[in-house]
Amino acid sequence: MENAVKLENITKKFSSTKFSLIDISFEIKKGSLTIVGGANGSGKSVLMMLISGLMKPTEGKLTVSSKPGLVFQDAATQILGDTPREDVSVGPKNLRFCKKDIPALVEDSLKSVRLLEKADIPAEYLSGGEKRRLAVASILAMKRDIIIFDEPYANLDYPAVCDVNRLLEQLKSEGKTVILLTHELEKCLALADHFLILQKGSLVFDGSPEEAVKIPLEQWAIRNPLTKYENVKDLIWK
Ligand SMILES: Nc1ncnc2c1ncn2[C@@H]1O[C@H](COP(=O)(O)OP(=O)(O)OP(=O)(O)O)[C@@H](O)[C@H]1O
Ligand SMILES: [Mg+2]
Repeated sequence: MENAVKLENITKKFSSTKFSLIDISFEIKKGSLTIVGGANGSGKSVLMMLISGLMKPTEGKLTVSSKPGLVFQDAATQILGDTPREDVSVGPKNLRFCKKDIPALVEDSLKSVRLLEKADIPAEYLSGGEKRRLAVASILAMKRDIIIFDEPYANLDYPAVCDVNRLLEQLKSEGKTVILLTHELEKCLALADHFLILQKGSLVFDGSPEEAVKIPLEQWAIRNPLTKYENVKDLIWK
């Protein structure tokens, strides 16, 4: 199958001593859903900035089949319009999509994230979860084939997490390539075809979710998502 993203020996340095990514190589297939795990500071967000072209690698070769859409962890910083309808229109207008198609495209995008009834209220009144959904609608309207989500579950309640997962399943069924940066594996690993783990800027695992849960993930500061809770006394992470 064709690649959507390919990294060959990518290194990102911010100063002579500060390496954020070290000699990273991997491929992401078109239409796959890839989860990138790793502790705080392991390099997930830097990886996203490189793949999306917002930063340049210090060394190595990066190939993408098309420009990715990004959903940032702090979705509020991504809102460009006064209302959800205006916000979702910005991308298609900038991309010079045919003017008469834009209103319907915006409606469809808002509908698929269940924000149509809030299309014309001030965007600042949306809750955190709704702002995240608005960011997704903006990406949908730009018709990107590759979509990267940075910590999409941060601050979301249980129904909102389920909403994000329904959206991810929908994107996958539409053949989009999805890259999910998260450490909340218990919420999403079942969706993944491909799993990558970063530790301190190095790629330490590149395989399937099934293979990953069989190895001691704690060595990379990741809690094995198959660890069970059976009693109240289990409900503490140590
Ligand atoms: N613009 C920058 N200048 C200098 N160092 C940076 C810059 N951006 C990131 N870094 C460093 O690169 C490393 C990786 O950061 P990154 O934000 O990618 O981590 P992360 O895996 O996304 O962490 P988190 O789970 O906390 O979001 C960190 O040590 C960070 O301090
Ligand atoms: Mg990050």
